[in-house]
Amino acid sequence: MSLLDVRGLTVTYADGAAAVRGVDLRLDAGRKLGVAGESGCGKSTLALALLRLLPAGTRVGGEILLDGEDVLAMKWGRVRAVRWAGASIVFQGAMHSLNPVRRVGDQIAEPILLHRRATPAGARRRTGELLEQVGLPAARGSAHPHELSGGQRQRVMIAMALACDPRLIIADEPTTALDVMIQAQILRLIEQVVADQDVGLIMISHDLAVLADTCDRLAVMYAGRVVEEGPARRVHEDARHPYARALSAAFPRIGDPASRFAPRGLPGDPPDPSALPAGCAFHPRCPVPLDSCAVEDQPLRDAGPDRRAACVHVTAQDRAPAQDRAPGRARDTDQPPDTGRSWAGDSGGSGDRDTPPAGPHDTVGDTSHAPDSPEEARRPAP
Ligand SMILES: Nc1ncnc2c1ncn2[C@@H]1O[C@H](COP(=O)(O)OP(=O)(O)OP(=O)(O)O)[C@@H](O)[C@H]1O
Ligand code: SF4
Ligand SMILES: [Mg+2]
Repeated sequence: MSLLDVRGLTVTYADGAAAVRGVDLRLDAGRKLGVAGESGCGKSTLALALLRLLPAGTRVGGEILLDGEDVLAMKWGRVRAVRWAGASIVFQGAMHSLNPVRRVGDQIAEPILLHRRATPAGARRRTGELLEQVGLPAARGSAHPHELSGGQRQRVMIAMALACDPRLIIADEPTTALDVMIQAQILRLIEQVVADQDVGLIMISHDLAVLADTCDRLAVMYAGRVVEEGPARRVHEDARHPYARALSAAFPRIGDPASRFAPRGLPGDPPDPSALPAGCAFHPRCPVPLDSCAVEDQPLRDAGPDRRAACVHVTAQDRAPAQDRAPGRARDTDQPPDTGRSWAGDSGGSGDRDTPPAGPHDTVGDTSHAPDSPEEARRPAP
């Protein structure tokens, strides 16, 4: 049984915004799942839904099985017991959400006193241990938040998330506001916690590269749906869904000087979740839509070993084991492909659809067939 099994999760806010639309995810203990996507695609909503932290009036559907128990069906007393002890969350912007007038040690001790029914001395001792575990001297517990740096405050938030030995940690943008040195330290710390304590981790970020480096698997969200899911590095380096490709191409790659000087973007904005377009929600921005995309949405389907993507261009070829594919379609090998030829960037981020990119499942590394016309670019590859 998986530690977390999310089935058909939907979240609609009181104002009608369909922020999460039928998300399925699984996570085992000791594994790390990254969730990526542009601002507003529903990442935080998904995280909050997992612990029933959404505002009153929000409609939530589906199942959230935590160790086999459906969080959505729990009585409130049970939900309160599960928060912190079963699963904890490092909130987005957490560095700024510490209470400024209380010592950080007291703030870490609070869930220990509440959930573990520890004595004040026991909670103090445990707080000191937690601070040391996240690389801070126990004595820093007497500091107020303003006396700590941003990185130290984030460490405090992680200590707080660990306070009651949860089985699952959800970290929503845990490193976004940190400089790269501190970011690397925090990421290593999180990895170490997962390895040492065999917890499951869901890490949310808009930065695919950070997630690919940290997580085992990666789910890319667009307009409330997971549009691609699979092994983190392979999704980052050879995404099947046009949106995941564009997101990946938006970040410069180590070892690829061209991408460093010209990170490529995606024109347009994500849709308003209260007024989603018909068909595939990505079609107004997609560089390779078919006519049917404006009316027909695509379910997540197999897109190779251990991978899924929700795009009409995912073909039987993609799903076939590597040895059965046509020559040149060398995907899902152990060797990551050369991704310097991501079609998502071939438009130069200008949004000019008259300069067509290659199709989304063009064979990476096969440069023999460049599209000659927009029509050809939009045709699914054979
Ligand atoms: N309390 C709320 N009431 C109504 N709509 C909301 C509420 N919270 C979020 N939304 C909407 O739901 C959508 C998803 O928001 P969410 O915060 O989950 O996105 P996100 O992917 O976490 O974005 P970011 O990367 O900026 O944190 C957005 O369109 C947002 O405006
Ligand atoms: S090709 Fe169609 S289904 Fe695939 S992402 Fe583009 S619009 Fe969506
Ligand atoms: Mg968010």
